[in-house]
Amino acid sequence: MKVTVVGAGNVGATCADVIAHKELANELVLVDIKENFSEGKALDIWQTSPINMYDTRIKGSTNDYSKTANSEVVVITSGLPRKPGMSRDDLISTNAGIVKSVTENIIRYSPNAKIIVVSNPLDVMTYCAYLTSKVDSKRVFGMAGILDTARYKAFLAEALDCSPKDIQAVLMGGHGDTMVPLPRYTTVGGIPVTELIAKDKLDAIIDRTKKGGGEIVNLLGTSAWYAPGAAAAQMVESIVRDQKRIFPVCAWLQGEYGMKDVYLGVPVKLGKNGIEQIIELKLNEEEKALLNSSAKAVKEVMAVLDNMNSAAVSK
Ligand code: LAC
Repeated sequence: MKVTVVGAGNVGATCADVIAHKELANELVLVDIKENFSEGKALDIWQTSPINMYDTRIKGSTNDYSKTANSEVVVITSGLPRKPGMSRDDLISTNAGIVKSVTENIIRYSPNAKIIVVSNPLDVMTYCAYLTSKVDSKRVFGMAGILDTARYKAFLAEALDCSPKDIQAVLMGGHGDTMVPLPRYTTVGGIPVTELIAKDKLDAIIDRTKKGGGEIVNLLGTSAWYAPGAAAAQMVESIVRDQKRIFPVCAWLQGEYGMKDVYLGVPVKLGKNGIEQIIELKLNEEEKALLNSSAKAVKEVMAVLDNMNSAAVSK
């Protein structure tokens, strides 16, 4: 089993580190455009193998995609991270160019790979990879829901002073301030969360979750990496071990939830074939309205990419 992570920055290196620790692949390739960078990171991670007791072989490659050939899963983390004051959408033109060229290279050498996009703006970069790859949308999807749900669960565990392990939650929509955490589908040890926490406290946690990425950008001056990297690795695990776990994932909708031609976070079953099922929840009117406005926000940024692409074609 071979897995590739493109981008050896903080998110990509963390993701590779988690994949290696969990022995999710016997071969792991880390690619970066910066000369010697992925080789250095890969060497450092590989040198933890006798300490952490794993045998995943990890190698770096400076932009030589022939080394990624026949990867089962590819995680794309390349692109600029956010700086304070920037929205994820501010990154679109730079990161779309990067994600397009990475996807072309990936598909050339691994035509059957499942592609997990982590670059921002997430929903639109996933769309960009889908357009570029020209493969079935079941094989191209984005990592956001696991990260956003993890933040939501972490805040809840803190507020309830309980283990995050016992919190189950669903969160839908785009990876931005319009994301839709669903308290009706949040339980703690099987107990509806609404029975354990006052509404105003829960509302404050939902609001903090929506701005969870920005909170870290403001603290660090750049985007988060431990949770995004671990979240992407969890998706890799569900695919390579064919676990068929159910996660919120940024998926291409073709009529589900009454939406068409949009990449949006929804609960899916993730297995060896990629997205094996999109699960349709019965949302109430309020939840539907929130999801629709999130889809509208994503579609606006998708249109920016479409316009950039048609301007490039007509040149
Ligand atoms: C975040 C970035 C990775 O949410 O989008 O932290």
